[in-house]
Amino acid sequence: MPLYHKLGKIPHKRHTVFKKADGSLHYEQLFGTIGFDGMSSLLYHLHRPTMVKQVGATKDVSPKAAVPHNIKSRLLKGFQVQAEDDFLDSRKIVLFNSDVNVGLAAPRKSMTDYFYKNADADELMFVHKGTGTLKTFLGEIDFEYGDYLLIPRGMIYQIEFDSEDNRLLVTESYSPIYTPKRYRNWFGQHLEHSPFCERDFKLPQNLKTHDEKGEFVLKVKKQGQLHELVYASHPFDVVGWDGYNYPYGFSIHDFEPITGRVHQPPPVHQTFETNAFVVCSFVPRIYDYHPKAIPAPYNHSNIDSDEVLYYVDGDFMSRRNIDQGYISLHPAGIPHGPHPGTYEASIGKTKTEELAVMIDTFKPLQLTQTALDIDDGKYYQSWLE
Ligand SMILES: [Fe+2]
Repeated sequence: MPLYHKLGKIPHKRHTVFKKADGSLHYEQLFGTIGFDGMSSLLYHLHRPTMVKQVGATKDVSPKAAVPHNIKSRLLKGFQVQAEDDFLDSRKIVLFNSDVNVGLAAPRKSMTDYFYKNADADELMFVHKGTGTLKTFLGEIDFEYGDYLLIPRGMIYQIEFDSEDNRLLVTESYSPIYTPKRYRNWFGQHLEHSPFCERDFKLPQNLKTHDEKGEFVLKVKKQGQLHELVYASHPFDVVGWDGYNYPYGFSIHDFEPITGRVHQPPPVHQTFETNAFVVCSFVPRIYDYHPKAIPAPYNHSNIDSDEVLYYVDGDFMSRRNIDQGYISLHPAGIPHGPHPGTYEASIGKTKTEELAVMIDTFKPLQLTQTALDIDDGKYYQSWLE
């Protein structure tokens, strides 16, 4: 996050004496990314963050390919993914490659008896249903419908839901997720033509410090394995921190659409970027206003990227038979476009209420068995007249 933030108590100078009330020292931790070249934060703990008591069981949670080489357009009925009590159990990867996992989750319960850290990947969760609080060792972020939650790799967190009816789109990225570089100046500040700016971000607040010793289970995802470590102190023992590396939220409802006289290409919807995929937000907007404009997209060949569209709400102008929580996959290598009738029907329309999240990956995606279980199986023929 190219925005300096701090919470709690920190010493005047970094790497200097910072005493607790009893005269003993706080434990400083540099939490950096990309070696020492990326964004970092400096944390001050009550206890050593290194006190591993035990290393317990390991569980393989890496995705397995049911379709390693996909050429079919697919339609996955996302809300058919079964709800599960446990947050991590509920996360089902449906599409993946060596850069990214795309998963769906319907967790019923809050995470209360363990903590979680993804050491492999930045996590980008889109909240389709549910409200609650993301609790991290750097503070808390309240979330609601339409929020993206960006959790950089290594952040220790718990998630609390207000009810049992929750639906999340979960993306795990093996390279860092940033906002698009072209919308930021040389220093990182968002420019005037950016569809959002710093004011729109939900930064961590309400840092709660737990001074507890005992046994605390931290589940660490690393190399696709979930390791269970027991720590001797509460992971949320930070009294203060500052820097640039921290989780944050951004509501899709705060994305200001860029419109034009004629059809604007997908990059105008871009919200996040990595070196392996992009994330775009399709939000309610005024349609193209040239008197002869065709608002529906033209057929297009994303010859070298797979396109994943997650349908959130509203009408989807270029698609038929689409419902909330559906995912369409348009694979690299073949063109796709509006369904018969929708191209013509879009002429003269003045606005759309569509709300969708798009993930375009530069490498082909593989499908898991979970994806096949919710695949409608006939979508690839849906352009036939
Ligand atoms: Fe497309």
